[in-house]
Amino acid sequence: MLKKVLKVIGVVLAVLIVIAGIFYTKVYFSTESRLNKVYAVTPQQLTFDPNDSTLLATGERLITTKGCNDCHGGDLGGKVFIDDPALGLLVAKNLTKGKGGLPQDHSTTDWVLALKHGIRRDGKPLLFMPAHEYTLLSEQDMTAIIAYCSQLPNVDRELPQHNLGPVARILTDLGKLPLVPAEMIDHNRTLVKEVKAEVSVEYGKYLSIACQGCHRENMKGGEPVAPGFPVVADISSTGHPGKWTDDQFMETLRTGKTPEGKVLKPTEMPWTMTKAYSDTELKALHLYLNSL
Ligand code: HEC
Ligand code: HEC
Repeated sequence: MLKKVLKVIGVVLAVLIVIAGIFYTKVYFSTESRLNKVYAVTPQQLTFDPNDSTLLATGERLITTKGCNDCHGGDLGGKVFIDDPALGLLVAKNLTKGKGGLPQDHSTTDWVLALKHGIRRDGKPLLFMPAHEYTLLSEQDMTAIIAYCSQLPNVDRELPQHNLGPVARILTDLGKLPLVPAEMIDHNRTLVKEVKAEVSVEYGKYLSIACQGCHRENMKGGEPVAPGFPVVADISSTGHPGKWTDDQFMETLRTGKTPEGKVLKPTEMPWTMTKAYSDTELKALHLYLNSL
């Protein structure tokens, strides 16, 4: 009798393993084909004066306020930003022209391909590089970022290749991980010229694109962004920030401490990025969030 039961269990297990194998093979090939798709786009032409010091200063600030250095490192020389056995190894490229960095002839058009379209020169998608957010930058802001990045001092840093883990592939297949931002972009859209920097709902909405990836489009938060991360807070008018004054909101986003006494970890809620926001930017954001 026991033998029979064991045999049945064995058969069931074998069937389950085969099913899991088939499922993962499907996931593997489907993600591979998405990663190797070639996008044909007509990049918008951007021009600037490489010696315009105001433009370069704006670009330098945007590198922090748009989170580029959170992933690419303080010197933009690149870093491994996810190294987890299940998710895999994800590497943010060295953006300088030093060893291990961008090719010497990396042009303004190549920058537009990366930031506005989420693709490389060869038309293949960049992994996990949040171009679906940067594609919504104004032409003025994108130009400033590109101008600043085009003159970075060389950093010699050779980094390993990406290596996607099984969980990253499965979450991508289920639509739970934005691994291929190029898929979420309207590649034919032209950039908005400029969004006026003032305490307005419109400017707050523009800035909130930097919060969307985690707090969602409606700013009501929800499920953790990846396994091991906390539940994302509701920051619309129905959440805590709806009860805060502008000063409390600014204090929270600059120190990581909320009026309720919660301490936000910069690795989970990137206040090291929002710390660099001006009063105008934070007040505009608060105004927009309270309007939701
Ligand atoms: C969430 C992390 C993250 C943030 C934030 C981020 N990047 Fe990236 N970026 C990546 C990763 C990962 C890659 C490598 C993608 C690949 O190789 O498939 C990358 C690649 C790039 C590339 C492509 C280089 C090439 O190979 O052609 C450029 C350019 C770039 N990033 C610029 C920026 C700029 C500028 C910002 C800020 C406006 C920024 N990134 C913000 C993760 C990030
Ligand atoms: C990488 C993901 C991520 C991004 C990007 C992000 N947040 Fe958060 N944020 C979180 C998480 C996760 C929490 C909850 C942290 C916790 O509970 O410890 C949080 C919490 C907060 C809180 C505290 C809410 C409370 O109830 O105490 C505020 C305020 C906030 N975020 C504002 C913003 C704003 C404004 C932006 C955009 C400029 C932004 N966040 C971008 C992940 C993010």
